Parts: sequence; C-alpha cells; structure tokens
Amino acid sequence: MNSMVFPKIDIDDIPKWEGDLAPLECIAIKDETHNVKSFTFRSKVDAWFKFLPGQHTTLFLNINDTSVMRTYTIASSPTRPHTITITNKLLENGTVTNWMHEHLKVGDCIDALNIGGSFGIAFDQPRDKVLFMSGGSGITPMLSMSRYLVDLSIDLDIVFLHNAQTPRDLIAKDELEFYEQHQSNFNRHFICDNADNDWSAERGLLSLTMLNDLVPDIIEREVYCCGPKAYMDNAQSILNEIGFDMAHYHQESFDIESSTAQQNMAEPSKFVAHDEGESIEVVEYNITLKETGKTIKCGSNTNILVAIQKEGIVTPFACSMGMCGTCRTKMIEGKVDMDAQGGLLKSHEAEGYILICCSHPESDLVLEL
Ligand code: FES
Repeated sequence: MNSMVFPKIDIDDIPKWEGDLAPLECIAIKDETHNVKSFTFRSKVDAWFKFLPGQHTTLFLNINDTSVMRTYTIASSPTRPHTITITNKLLENGTVTNWMHEHLKVGDCIDALNIGGSFGIAFDQPRDKVLFMSGGSGITPMLSMSRYLVDLSIDLDIVFLHNAQTPRDLIAKDELEFYEQHQSNFNRHFICDNADNDWSAERGLLSLTMLNDLVPDIIEREVYCCGPKAYMDNAQSILNEIGFDMAHYHQESFDIESSTAQQNMAEPSKFVAHDEGESIEVVEYNITLKETGKTIKCGSNTNILVAIQKEGIVTPFACSMGMCGTCRTKMIEGKVDMDAQGGLLKSHEAEGYILICCSHPESDLVLEL
C-alpha cells in the first residue's frame, strides 16, 4: 500500500502563499447545483493562505492560446488556511468560468494573483447584528464570512438572505440550513424568483414588505450585499426608503466575466481614454515604470492603465473599475487622483499602493512596474 503524504499543517513551518510562490493545484471539484461548481485549490508547494473573509483572487488561464484572467471571490473561510475554494456558475458566454467547468480537472495547476480586495466583514465590526444579502452567485463572499463567523463561534446575530431563480439554483442550501439548526445566532431565508407549489418560503423580487417581515430589526444591522447590479440597486433603494443609515451598508459586485476588459490582457486598442470634458485643461505627465525601464506619457484626463496598455505593456487587471484590486501597483513618487471603488485596503494605500485602472496622474510619477 502506498503511504499518503499530507501537507504540513503548522503554518509557522510553511510560507504564506503569494501568487509568485507557486501555482494553485486543484484538489477537489464539487457540484453545488446543476450549473454551479466549487473548485478547491492548495498551493503547489506547502504554503498557507492568508486572507480576509470576502476577499478574492485572480486566476490566469491560457484558453485557446489567449491569456485570460478572471477574478473570483474566495468562498471558503480563512480559518481553514491550507486551501481556498472558488465557487462559480456557468454563464451563457462566460469564457473562463465555462472553461473551468468543462476542462479543469483535479491535479491541474493554475497561476493566480495575490489575494486582495477590501469587501468583507470588518474586524472592528461596528454592530453586533449583521444582515447578509446575496443574489445568485453573489453568495460567495457571504459564504466565506458565514463560515468564518461560525468556525470561530463569533457572537454576532446573523441573518442570511439569499435570492435564487428557482429552488434548484440555491447554493449551499444544506449548509446554511445546518447553521440555522445548530447555531442559535444564525437565521437564513431563501427567496426564489420562480418556484412551484411545493415551495413554501418567499418568492419573487425582494420587496420592502418582504424585508420588513423577514428582518424586522434591519435598521440595527450592518448590511453586506452582493449580487447582480439590479439586485443591489433594488436592495439599496429599499434601504433608502426605510431610512437605513447607508454608512452601515457594504456592497460588492463582480460582473467581470462579461466585461470586455477582462477578456484579453494584450489588446490595448480596446481601451478608450477617459475624457473629462473640454473645459478641463489637460496636462501631460511622464510616468516612469521602474521595472519595465520605460517612461511613458499620460494625460491628466487619462487613466494610467489605459496609458500603459497603449504602449503595448501587459500588466494585470480585471474589473477596470477600482473594485477588485488586481491592478494594485506601488507608486514610488508622485500624486494621483484615484477613484477606488473598494478595491484597495487602507493599509495598502498607506503603503503607497494605487489602483492604476482608476487613477489619473496629477504629477510625474514613478511606479514599481
Ligand atoms: S483592475 Fe480591478 S481594481 Fe483595477
């Protein structure tokens, strides 16, 4: 009989995983629903994953001889640091997700970027009650946060609200029901857009009446929301209607698979400079890319990622909206106007990092790129 070799379990003995250290090796694939799978990865060399519940990583794949990248929220909990799990849903025209569903096998290795992003439960959680609201595959950060809170028996009052198209589209249904049965502080509600007569729970679009019935103390909760844009717009408008203090509302949306920005890393012609209007005087600045050894020009009305790509320089990015953190770059010198949409941790900003996809130069710059 062959002896089994297990990964080292003491994280003091192994390095923290970073994208440069080793590729991710797929070690398990699980069907969650008829069109959703979970892929579990470990580092190809012994390493542990340090992340916050709600953060994400970006996978690099070569599909039909084209480099493609895709950012996914990690659905597993950082309390189980030897693996990460990505849960994703087949899409009508989804390049990367569909390739993973059809071709990725246990034992395959994938390159990935460092884990990043700033959506997720705050460790200085301002309220002792939370509401997780998710639509469709927007459930993944909520799963990570719930698994983390349950694993650590954190004394937060949790309500988990999840909308799916039909009962057969409910992801992690059994697990969430298990938490409800075994955790006194955990309540879950499933809402289906369409369901037959056997479905006794809520159905249809989330409404003010529904939310008031299911979560009567919503006004006292810290709210985390993730899902399609229409779902989050609806959630926000209901919360505004009830006078919810939006300082306690956090949301994240990743519609990256359908974004042209993500499809091909090497097609700068697809990108159009951001024009802020003719009345603003455009100043041209020099941007020195220290590692690439080039200096490029960038106007004050052009985002830095666009300027770099126009020079044919390939650099990682995904959402192009300041949300995912993939384009995070250290600024050694200079000043930028940055419109980060949650993709940069405050601590990273303090260390001098910027998101080049949503930054315009306000002086000459030196970047660690
Ligand atoms: S590419 Fe997502 S934050 Fe810049």
